[in-house]
Amino acid sequence: MKYSIQFRIWHWLHATVVLGLLGTVLLRKTFLSWRTNSEILMTKLSEISIEITAEQAKVLAKAVRAGMWEWHIILGYALAFLIIFRIYLYFFDTSKKESFSSLTLHKKAVHLSYYIIYATLLFMAASGLSIYFYQDLGLLKETAHDIKEIHEFTFNIVMYFVPLHIIGVIVAENKDEKGLISSMINGKE
Ligand code: HEM
Ligand code: HEM
Repeated sequence: MKYSIQFRIWHWLHATVVLGLLGTVLLRKTFLSWRTNSEILMTKLSEISIEITAEQAKVLAKAVRAGMWEWHIILGYALAFLIIFRIYLYFFDTSKKESFSSLTLHKKAVHLSYYIIYATLLFMAASGLSIYFYQDLGLLKETAHDIKEIHEFTFNIVMYFVPLHIIGVIVAENKDEKGLISSMINGKE
């Protein structure tokens, strides 16, 4: 087996969780953006002669967003768990992957991108949990805010990695690595 069953399960759960986290961010920044929705609420309510202040509209728009954003935290916990699972796999997995030194230059670059995404996601989980639990951790609100800014900026690495990775494996599958994607499904070489 190129990829053990545990590794494959890990990959697909992890892919789903990361795509889900990106989904919650995209929703927060588009359809469920409080800025956009508070304006819609104010305009539509004023059309039926109900005037509310910008501050009240903000409270309403954030309340509409809240249920969706809970999923960022739920998936966040799942990501933290999957990172721990990946560390376990690093030591105990039976997948037969090529050693780094035997890889072609191209594959070394691909593997480098995996190290980068692992480091990035470790940071996302640690920073995300620190923002969420900043009070329990005894952090100041300002510190939590600064961590949030870095968390939000680092999101860009994830946003670029995911489509590049998916396009990359599809291109490789169609060129000289036939069966690459199915090997992540059925485990075979
Ligand atoms: C949904 C479409 C996806 C497909 C078809 C796919 C497919 C694959 C394949 C075939 C490999 C092995 C590539 C190789 O040997 O270099 C791989 C590895 C990997 N994938 Fe994906 N993937 C997908 C989504 C994702 C997502 C959303 C993530 C999230 C970050 C992700 C993270 C990874 C990582 C970190 C590895 C390296 C595993 C390791 O060797 O340590 N994948 N993927
Ligand atoms: C793939 C991993 C992740 C990505 C791409 C990501 C992305 C983001 C982005 C872009 C924001 C800023 C949203 C905005 O203000 O517009 C954010 C906020 C936040 N994230 Fe994450 N995140 C990830 C993982 C996590 C994890 C593991 C947790 C831990 C539970 C977490 C908890 C939070 C919290 C608490 C906020 C602040 C929300 C607020 O200010 O109300 N995130 N995340």
